[in-house]
Amino acid sequence: MKKLFEKGNSFLGTKYPILGGAMTWVSESNLVSAISNAGGLGVLACGSMDTTKLEREILLTKKKTHKPFGVNLILLHPEIDELIDCCITSNVNIVVFAGGFPKKSQIDKLKSKNIKTICFATTIVIARKMIQNGIDALILEGSEAGGHIGPVSINVLVQEILPNIKEVPIFVAGGIGRGEVILKFLQLGAAGCQIGTRFVCANESIAHSKFKNIFIKSEARNAQISVKIDDRLPVIPVRAIENSATQNFISEQKRLINLVEKKEISLKDAQLSIEHFWAGSLKKAVIDGDVESGSLMAGQSVSLVKKLQSVSEIFKELTQQIESQINFEQKDSNNG
Ligand SMILES: Cc1cc2nc3c(=O)[nH]c(=O)nc-3n(C[C@H](O)[C@H](O)[C@H](O)COP(=O)(O)O)c2cc1C
Repeated sequence: MKKLFEKGNSFLGTKYPILGGAMTWVSESNLVSAISNAGGLGVLACGSMDTTKLEREILLTKKKTHKPFGVNLILLHPEIDELIDCCITSNVNIVVFAGGFPKKSQIDKLKSKNIKTICFATTIVIARKMIQNGIDALILEGSEAGGHIGPVSINVLVQEILPNIKEVPIFVAGGIGRGEVILKFLQLGAAGCQIGTRFVCANESIAHSKFKNIFIKSEARNAQISVKIDDRLPVIPVRAIENSATQNFISEQKRLINLVEKKEISLKDAQLSIEHFWAGSLKKAVIDGDVESGSLMAGQSVSLVKKLQSVSEIFKELTQQIESQINFEQKDSNNG
């Protein structure tokens, strides 16, 4: 186990090569510090924060943990340059870029201050381009994941990218809820895994109890991909548990296309409005507990969320599953 964990642990500075996937509104100082204290890498989600809020949240997290943690920056954020500066002045360990692909200058700026950079790679061409730009590590996220997703399953992404990219550590995300599958990805060459959905119902997560209850009751099939209604408005698909927000998203797209047609807003503004729609409706569900019309972003691994647990219990469960799978495989090969 130690050997399999080595690459990811030494990159992240952790005991386990597991990142707590940043989740807007959910991944704040409590959950993030709990994940880092349990031996993983907690990552603050900055999707809903401005620079002042991020600075405060980093300080709060530092009060709750002395272990490394990361910050997730959404590249579409209007204050992205200020947020990068904030990560530098606050001396964070790792920045995870999301919602696009970082420019070389953005990567260089952080690296020159000894901050490690990670971004998502959706194809091998993008993976190579990001490595050329100097990125320190990559995340492959399958369409099983919760929140904004790409179109390809993790099963295919790992086959396409893991055997061909050796230059940087690669972390794998999407649909991960048990230790056995973490072990498989490590054996295939991944440096570690990123998990989101499984941490939503942690005791330390501030998500509303109604939000957590829906997760506990839901099956994988309830976490569906949003529908795009018009090619003129390219929206990033979102996986969420179906409710009225699923329908509201369709009406919102119609409203925005109408405004674009009447030239009342630009296409870019329409796309930004879509992102605001998601952030707003996620807040309604996560913070206010409005699980009827708020967005219930969740991955298919929601079916593996069975109860409220502390973060350390979740880590214990995952590592025990990894260990017993290793023992099973060893026994099996001794017998064979
Ligand atoms: C409620 C929710 C909010 C999310 N918000 C973000 C986000 O702000 N930034 C980001 O990069 N990923 C976000 N994600 C994706 C997670 O960071 C992570 O990659 C994903 O949950 C992994 O898949 P899993 O849910 O199957 O474990 C979100 C996921 C969920 C479920």
